[in-house]
Amino acid sequence: MEKGRRTVFVCQQCGRESIKWLGRCPDCEGWNTFVESVVRSPSSRRSASRVLSTAPQELSQVSGEQTPRLTLSFAECNRVLGGGVVPGSLVLIGGDPGIGKSTLLLQVSAAVAQGGRKVLYVTGEESPTQVKLRANRLGLGGEWLFILPETNMEVIMEQLEEASPDMVIIDSIQTVYLDQLDSAPGSVGQIRECTMKLMQWAKTANVPVLLSGHVTKDGAIAGPRVLEHIVDAVLYLEGEQFSAYRLLRSVKNRFGSTNEVGIFEMRGNGLVEVTNPSEAFLSQRPTETVGSAVVPTLEGTRPLLVEIQALTSTTSFGFPRRTANGVDFNRLLVITAVLTKRAGLALGNQDIMVNVVGGLRVNEPAADLGIALAIASSLRGAAIDPGLVAIGELGLSGELRAVPHVDRRLSESAKLGFKRCLMPKTMKVDVPQQMQLIGVESVREALRKALTKGGDKADAT
Ligand SMILES: Nc1ncnc2c1ncn2[C@@H]1O[C@H](COP(=O)(O)OP(=O)(O)OP(=O)(O)O)[C@@H](O)[C@H]1O
Ligand SMILES: [Mg+2]
Ligand SMILES: [Zn+2]
Repeated sequence: MEKGRRTVFVCQQCGRESIKWLGRCPDCEGWNTFVESVVRSPSSRRSASRVLSTAPQELSQVSGEQTPRLTLSFAECNRVLGGGVVPGSLVLIGGDPGIGKSTLLLQVSAAVAQGGRKVLYVTGEESPTQVKLRANRLGLGGEWLFILPETNMEVIMEQLEEASPDMVIIDSIQTVYLDQLDSAPGSVGQIRECTMKLMQWAKTANVPVLLSGHVTKDGAIAGPRVLEHIVDAVLYLEGEQFSAYRLLRSVKNRFGSTNEVGIFEMRGNGLVEVTNPSEAFLSQRPTETVGSAVVPTLEGTRPLLVEIQALTSTTSFGFPRRTANGVDFNRLLVITAVLTKRAGLALGNQDIMVNVVGGLRVNEPAADLGIALAIASSLRGAAIDPGLVAIGELGLSGELRAVPHVDRRLSESAKLGFKRCLMPKTMKVDVPQQMQLIGVESVREALRKALTKGGDKADAT
């Protein structure tokens, strides 16, 4: 251990320091806000800062040259990162236990290693044999891929200096620890200090470091967002428990846009990119389309066609229930209320279930009309035209509102063979060939034009 260092507990809310842990901060009165941190002595602070140039530079004189990004084997990963990994960046890949973080990292590492670059894979959770068995299952070779089963940060840092790899994986950040801190691995203090150390190394060596991290129950990566502030990019790997689809979503990115999504399928031989997700998600759509509407949503910049299913059934006793899978529950309540009040649907004695096929989540208001259509279709037993997609946000008076990027949604729909689009009349768009727009002003009018029975299909022009 270096001399001149000690640890101190710091309140994460107001910054008060204390030499011992306190349950409640005497200053800001926050509970459980104290986190153990390393205090750097003035001398080590100075030497650390000398690594970076500290004299002010005129912005016009700063070099604007970009170091080329490291391209990964998965185009989906590159897309989510904004065109590959930036050298010297720290990327966090978060996700629920067992979702496939190690699988993704191993596949990415093996591909980088195959290109003749040295990858150091630090595994704190699995032995090299376990990693080997997974590599065998995934059909990955192991040249230029070095496995380090280690959790002690001092040792890891030594190995990093010695091996000078081109890319580093830490699987996972919750298992590594610094000896100087008394707190256990995985605690906020440990995670923060270890991440800062890795950050410093990454920036100095100009090598990308990828960390994996478990997400705690409440959705935050352990350590109340501390980690997210330190790292350059945060990607979440998500998916429903019984669905093979995995979404890699960027929630923070210093070197690219957020909201980008990569789509994978988990197979026996690892994660496989889904190159045409709309097709995949619609592949099992029944030909009988009662209660099933297709909505062109946007995931980041990419249009994605999803099927929304609804089922209504008469409540047998008690209050009617509403179940939302993949759509926001409160949004479902609003849509139900609008359908009842503005379109005269008798939903007060109906249980309503709404589901997005494929374990996807749709959070855009643009899906409102599709959800409303699916519910109305199920209630009336009227099929929705199978060649129709629906776009539109629902206002509380039952009016339909414009949504962004309609052109992208329409061209994706046309690409997949959809012939008609039900959308707000107010939107002015270029119509793709072979596509017919059905402009509507209200949800009542939309139901009349889209449902075959109980509506007048003749005026669907
Ligand atoms: N033999 C197998 N065939 C098919 N899929 C498998 C097989 N073994 C594991 N998997 C898939 O891999 C997943 C586990 O992946 P992985 O270990 O990469 O997850 P992880 O996110 O790293 O988990 P942890 O949080 O435990 O580290 C399993 O949930 C399963 O979907
Ligand atoms: Mg793992
Ligand atoms: Zn405080």
